[in-house]
Amino acid sequence: MHHFAYRDGEMAAEDVPLAQVAEAVGTPFYCYSTATLERHYRVFSAPFEGLDALICFAVKANSNVAVIRTLARLGAGADVVSGGELDRALVAGIPPERIVFSGIGKTAGEMAAGIRASIHQFNVESEPELRLLNDIALGLKTTAPVTLRVNPDVDSGSHAKITTGRSDNKFGIPWSRAREAYREAGRLPGIEVVGVDVHIGSQLTDLEPFEAAFHRVVELIEALRADGHAIDRLDLGGGLGIPYEPGTPPPHPDDYGAMVRRIAGESGCSLILEPGRLIAGNAGILVSRVLYVKEGESRSFVILDAAMNDLLRPAMYEAYHGIQPVREPGPDASTMVADFVGPVCESADTFARDRETAALVPGDLVVIHSAGAYGAVMASTYNSRPLVPEVLVKGDRFSVIRPRIGTDDLIDLDRMPDWLENEGESRAAE
Ligand code: LLP
Repeated sequence: MHHFAYRDGEMAAEDVPLAQVAEAVGTPFYCYSTATLERHYRVFSAPFEGLDALICFAVKANSNVAVIRTLARLGAGADVVSGGELDRALVAGIPPERIVFSGIGKTAGEMAAGIRASIHQFNVESEPELRLLNDIALGLKTTAPVTLRVNPDVDSGSHAKITTGRSDNKFGIPWSRAREAYREAGRLPGIEVVGVDVHIGSQLTDLEPFEAAFHRVVELIEALRADGHAIDRLDLGGGLGIPYEPGTPPPHPDDYGAMVRRIAGESGCSLILEPGRLIAGNAGILVSRVLYVKEGESRSFVILDAAMNDLLRPAMYEAYHGIQPVREPGPDASTMVADFVGPVCESADTFARDRETAALVPGDLVVIHSAGAYGAVMASTYNSRPLVPEVLVKGDRFSVIRPRIGTDDLIDLDRMPDWLENEGESRAAE
């Protein structure tokens, strides 16, 4: 459940009418709801109450420091995958002992930053990475707490581009080498083995792949303990899906939590969960204005001022996002079927195809739902478009938590090499 709803005929974020935000910051803009972020965090953590469990928000889903701080205040930890995300988590106020560092390509510098910050653990994904982390830790005269991320060879059933737990994916240590890798880790003086990590994919709409993977990992823990390793932590990653479109919703966090309890509750490990989308996805929207309504040969196009560079998910994963007008259509409002597209010069710049909608005219505001996770973080400036602002709402207040980064700011970052300077002089010499 989220807090974006019609009130007196106008869509509001909590108690703030979106038209008012549009007036203040212009369009397009991202808008997040504090009450929804908080609600999702609580709904996800509730089933783990009474267990020794750390909920680490996957910062890659939404890395705005105000969003991270909102969750930090509830006791959230952070799952980070780069030095940049580590910095953001720390600036936002996540205690280092609640930060886990994932990712298959950590650099020496990122490892050193994590060690210096005294983070909770590194989730290591290969033997070469393990060896480098050992060297870095020894260089800093310490040890690094490590789980190895294992690849359980389980198909998550989600979109191929966001499935990570199959043996042909780049993620994790192959199942057949897991014990051997732990043996090596156990021998490295700069590595302190603390547990096991698994993450099989994102936007899972079925609990079965989770169950299969978690069963395998719990069995592995027994084998590893028999091999003499102290396995005290079990990091189960993220991945629980959210409702994007009408129809059967994905499993409820209560059911996910009960399944985790059943399978891993008796493992003797403290648990780490890394939800990203579940917390932020439906806590954010992208608000855009209709520029034109264009009649094509065979279809109609609603041309928005938001584009694929602002929200990449439909172009990248054929993802469905609900779209609604900000002004509530009356009961007798006429409807139309249209493709919602952006101004970018690619046919992939399409938010929805053949979508039935209340009739729209230029100037109307629309809301693109479920854009709080993997929205702003995946934005680019393609077509020299500005980075859209982000706004956080709390009750009847709103605050710009990242201003629009305009084309002037971006052009200022470009530099002219000396051979292209003094345009006039070089022309004269020719
Ligand atoms: N932990 C690890 C190690 C991950 O790689 C991910 C996501 C998560 C946790 C959080 O997963 P979540 O709970 O959000 O499903 N850009 C794609 C999603 C990429 C997910 C990458 N890893 C999208 O827009 O659908």
